[in-house]
Amino acid sequence: MRPDQRHKGTASICANIEIRPVDREDLAALSRLTTQNLRSQLANPEGGPDNCNLVAWIENVPAGLLLSRRSLDRFGTQELLSLMVTPLFRRQGLARALLAELEITMASAGRTHLLASWSDRLPQLESFRALLSREGWDIPEPARLRMSFNVGERQDALRTFRPLMASARRHGLSSRPMAAMPDEPRNLMLAAATTFARAGAMPAWANPAPWLEHCDPAVSQLLFDENGRLCGWLLGEYQPGFTRWSVPLGWCSTDASHMLLAMDHLLCDLEHHGGPGATLILQPSQRNGHRVCTLLDRHFRPYALWADHLVSSSKTINQA
Ligand SMILES: CC(C)(COP(=O)(O)OP(=O)(O)OC[C@H]1O[C@@H](n2cnc3c(N)ncnc32)[C@H](O)[C@@H]1OP(=O)(O)O)[C@@H](O)C(=O)NCCC(=O)NCCS
Repeated sequence: MRPDQRHKGTASICANIEIRPVDREDLAALSRLTTQNLRSQLANPEGGPDNCNLVAWIENVPAGLLLSRRSLDRFGTQELLSLMVTPLFRRQGLARALLAELEITMASAGRTHLLASWSDRLPQLESFRALLSREGWDIPEPARLRMSFNVGERQDALRTFRPLMASARRHGLSSRPMAAMPDEPRNLMLAAATTFARAGAMPAWANPAPWLEHCDPAVSQLLFDENGRLCGWLLGEYQPGFTRWSVPLGWCSTDASHMLLAMDHLLCDLEHHGGPGATLILQPSQRNGHRVCTLLDRHFRPYALWADHLVSSSKTINQA
């Protein structure tokens, strides 16, 4: 953005607001406006056309910060990762101004939607909800159940399911990490996904393509049936900002219980690579992963380090 294109606020204090993209030189001054886990997003402020990170300056004070990135799995969508206004400057229109600037910038970048997801345990939950509602975002909906586990707990947590896993193994099912495949496993997965999709056997959300670039081959699993054919995948992604792994996608064409076998192997490989203190976050979607949500809630909650729900809301970008 050129200086003459910078946003100028309108009301009272907003008359002095200048909104501009995060610059490498701003990083030290911005650390109080974001959490540890998002600093990696800030560490690469320019970040190419996928990131849009904006600061609201009042004189030479950074008063508000917005971080966003292009969605990996929703075409044309920009995800709001963080929005923070310094307490002293709240309720003076800074968040609104930052969101307005994001919308203008993203419209010119060709995005069609904005998306925000947040924990139902967010300290300023009501302020954020009220802000989005005022700005015309959709009514928030439950999006995901989230649970975090210590990999060292896996033996106890999975004990109930050992018979199911043993039965899957007896039927010839096996799980192998991507890193152990002799040929390029990504091509194998893409080819299988195309075949499953053409046969109408795979829902669109189960397509591994958007995640393959980001997943960790040391822990991500490929599931094979009794004929040695690829029949599913469970992808693990390392999140450096949180020093944890998450599982963005898991699907198989055979019985859903076979995913437990893949999960057992993923946890075993994770313990091998990350040690018994490694943490894994599971966040099945309430819509596509409804059964997994019920399973996690019923059987695994006692083993969780913490659990919450992610709520999400989106907004169609005004292209005018
Ligand atoms: C949520 C947050 C970003 C709002 O920033 P802000 O600059 O104070 O928001 P604005 O002044 O632009 O408020 C715009 C509208 O949001 C709503 N709103 C904001 N704070 C509110 C509050 N405490 N109570 C009720 N409504 C509130 C109001 O509708 C307000 O319009 P109004 O002042 O004309 O009534 C700020 O409270 C914050 O930084 N919270 C901590 C971090 C956080 O929770 N971020 C969101 C998730 S990443």
